[in-house]
Amino acid sequence: MPKCKTYLVQVIIARDYRHLSETAAGVVAGAVIAKPQLALCLPTGNTPKGLYRELIRLYREKRIDFSRVSFFNLDEYLGLRADHTQSFRAYLWREFLNYVNVRRANVYAPDENYEETIRRAGSIDLLISGIGTNGHIAFNEPGSSKTSRTRIVELAQSTLQGMRQHFAPGELPTEAITVGIGTVLEARRVLLLASGHNKADVFARALTERPSSELPASFLQNHPNVTAIADEDAARVYKDISHERIQT
Ligand code: PGA
Repeated sequence: MPKCKTYLVQVIIARDYRHLSETAAGVVAGAVIAKPQLALCLPTGNTPKGLYRELIRLYREKRIDFSRVSFFNLDEYLGLRADHTQSFRAYLWREFLNYVNVRRANVYAPDENYEETIRRAGSIDLLISGIGTNGHIAFNEPGSSKTSRTRIVELAQSTLQGMRQHFAPGELPTEAITVGIGTVLEARRVLLLASGHNKADVFARALTERPSSELPASFLQNHPNVTAIADEDAARVYKDISHERIQT
């Protein structure tokens, strides 16, 4: 395998979740102001909810205009209707898009032509992702290859475990469609968000261990322009490791 460059990920440690959300919103607002026709790839989950609230606030204060921005969902469950409350399409409208001046024609969800759609949009300018406790980014579960592209994947047992509470029995999706690691690494800039104690271990490992498929988020070290924003709780182990490195 060709040798692959690793880069230092820029890490911002936020005081708390609110500060994390405001900082992330500042990055998004700056990117939209610099390029009004931004191609923006967005995650679901708990972590980005504060970011979306903050972006709505900035929009209402007329400090950000989304009319020319293209929105791409990072991933989606397979077998759920778009209007199912747990679908990622429904989530994004409910948490964010319904409240800003987005054009419906500029909103995309992954399908078999996604890579081509992204290419036609001029590729992703800013991709935002959370991190799973098992190290997944989007639905690139452990074992995902660094060159993977948008594809259908089976969800890991650990991911299914966390999803169970949100689905009626028999409704739980076991597959998803997700952008690949290769797709993520081609975005011009990546913003990784991590909040809470339960992310502390995986956040530190992703940024400091040798990149490998066992921990897909670690491949972000192979991207030259990643900013990771973690609140104090999620950054706890990372801070300890960095401190030890500075001391020795
Ligand atoms: P969370 O999910 O934001 O709900 O913690 C993150 C992820 O699994 O990617």
